[in-house]
Amino acid sequence: MPKEIFIGGGGEDYAAPQHLTLKYANRHGLVAGATGTGKTVTLQILAESFSNEGVPVFLADVKGDLSGLVKAGSAETALHDAFIKRAQKIQFTAFSYHNVPVTFWDLFGDQGHPVRTTVAEMGPLLLSQLLELSEAQEGILNIAFRLADEQGLPLLDLKDLQALLVWVGENRDSLSLRYGNVSTASIGAIQRRLLVLENQGGAKMFGEPALELSDLMRQDAAGRGMVNILAADKLMAAPKLYATFLLWLLSELFETLPEVGDPEKPKLVFFFDEAHLLFEDAPKALVDKVEQVARLIRSKGVGVYFVTQSPDDIPEDILGQLGNRIQHALRAFTARDRKKLKLAAETYRENPRFPTEDAIREVGVGEAVTSMLQKKAVPGIVERTLIRPPSSQLGPITAAERKAVLQASDMSGKYDTPVDRKSAFEMLRARADQAAKEAAEAEEIAETAPDPMVREFSAARRYNGGRVGRSTSRKLGGRADTFASAMSEAVIKELKGTTGRRIVRGILGGLFKGR
Ligand SMILES: Nc1ncnc2c1ncn2[C@@H]1O[C@H](COP(=O)(O)OP(=O)(O)OP(=O)(O)O)[C@@H](O)[C@H]1O
Ligand SMILES: [Mg+2]
Repeated sequence: MPKEIFIGGGGEDYAAPQHLTLKYANRHGLVAGATGTGKTVTLQILAESFSNEGVPVFLADVKGDLSGLVKAGSAETALHDAFIKRAQKIQFTAFSYHNVPVTFWDLFGDQGHPVRTTVAEMGPLLLSQLLELSEAQEGILNIAFRLADEQGLPLLDLKDLQALLVWVGENRDSLSLRYGNVSTASIGAIQRRLLVLENQGGAKMFGEPALELSDLMRQDAAGRGMVNILAADKLMAAPKLYATFLLWLLSELFETLPEVGDPEKPKLVFFFDEAHLLFEDAPKALVDKVEQVARLIRSKGVGVYFVTQSPDDIPEDILGQLGNRIQHALRAFTARDRKKLKLAAETYRENPRFPTEDAIREVGVGEAVTSMLQKKAVPGIVERTLIRPPSSQLGPITAAERKAVLQASDMSGKYDTPVDRKSAFEMLRARADQAAKEAAEAEEIAETAPDPMVREFSAARRYNGGRVGRSTSRKLGGRADTFASAMSEAVIKELKGTTGRRIVRGILGGLFKGR
């Protein structure tokens, strides 16, 4: 008997239990519906049920109302009677109040443990998306990443990237010879975009300790899956940041997790709330990558569930891959609405009892048109399902309650304090300092040496801003290349950390990261 999670009751009298089969939960899903129709509660009951089955969950909490998952619901609330009635109607006799284990995360580090990644791990393609760069600017970012790689400069935080861009600017002439036109205008444009990102609070997202994916895939002592909640209320003011971060996470999961085929239950379920933000003004190249990752990540045991108002927010190729569907009510005021509704209805297997189109229009709050994958991953016939009530608290917890959860969390020691390792910024500064020092020495010799030959050589070594071609003059100086060797030592040390290793991958490897 395959393991399933209970969604609600269907059939004529809502008494026929509707399930999501865990074996097919990695075949992705869709939760859609107009405002106030029950999407968030559906997300909540799915997260609870996955957790109960030991499956870790990642979800973004856009309105802050999913934090209630960490607390059991209560018979003392105004909603209790309605919940009990609903449970009875769908013959959900096992209904009880309980919480699930939750870890709070926050890109800004306020409402949860900070979630960081490094610039190198984000890679030039996603960064270009994030910064909304033009093709020419993206080209320069690619060059910068490649240079960082060649020169062994770890790109951890925004400071590193900013320092690198300054350096690219200084070496524009020699780089243009190698890579084609590296224009000041383009570099300036990228720098300005970085400033905008910084003003949005994006600097906090880049750096170390970077998130370890295994920390999203934990179970508690009782074997329940951890529900990871990313505070996303502020992120909505910076939708690009939100979308890019989640894409990064998906691509990272894809690259890191081993192939598992169709496991008995997913390794992780990932809910993509406000999924329309991901695809709005997204270039086709990016949509194609998302489509590709969605298709391939299945075999890594990760189920991706898109949550959005209307199914047509999701590009058709991706929609076609979403096997498990919970469609709450859609409105149909205009001719255009009706057309959309008809199109949405056509993607389901008809139930002879009712026209799908009518059902999608008529379902009440907390009710949905559902279709789950059945045996051999065949889509089930559409049902009108009354969704089960949640066991955890409906609505947000208080700030004090959140604080208590954060303090008790075993992730706080690991992520709460940022670490600023030696990376591109420090290394380039050291390089410039060293060059300035050498130049000052050279100047002194040039002025004081009696031998005109020595004077000339020394003069050639005057500070030139730490430019790429500097090494020849250094050799002329006959000095051991101490800076270079010191640097390569430092690099070897850096490369032992995970981040250093990924510089290379950031450029060459991965679906998102290379082209
Ligand atoms: N499965 C359910 N069991 C009990 N009550 C429900 C259920 N689904 C929805 N409700 C009730 O309907 C209200 C609205 O649902 P919900 O917040 O999930 O809507 P939504 O689609 O997420 O809305 P929005 O688009 O505004 O975020 C809930 O606060 C709850 O009172
Ligand atoms: Mg909602």
